[in-house]
Amino acid sequence: MNQQSTYRIYLCHGLHCGSQLGHVQQAFEQALAAANLTETVELRLSNCLGRCERGPNAIIQPGRVVYCQLNSTAINRIVHEHLLTNTPIVELRDE
Ligand code: FES
Repeated sequence: MNQQSTYRIYLCHGLHCGSQLGHVQQAFEQALAAANLTETVELRLSNCLGRCERGPNAIIQPGRVVYCQLNSTAINRIVHEHLLTNTPIVELRDE
């Protein structure tokens, strides 16, 4: 565990989201590297988040912010807006 981590991103690897996990994980890894956040943001796996019909999904801690229907565009925004400016993206987050 990285003790300097500011955020942890839990990628759902439940039955539904898991089929797209490779793509989602790769997109986060690339976006985090581009933003120079690989040392301070951890990627972890999560069990089903109970939003299977809107997957693939992830939850960001601290803050317990859930993002659904992840694609490359959304992931880039999450990294560059939420993680870099500490501001969750209202129109993308799930309640
Ligand atoms: S499998 Fe991802 S929310 Fe259920």
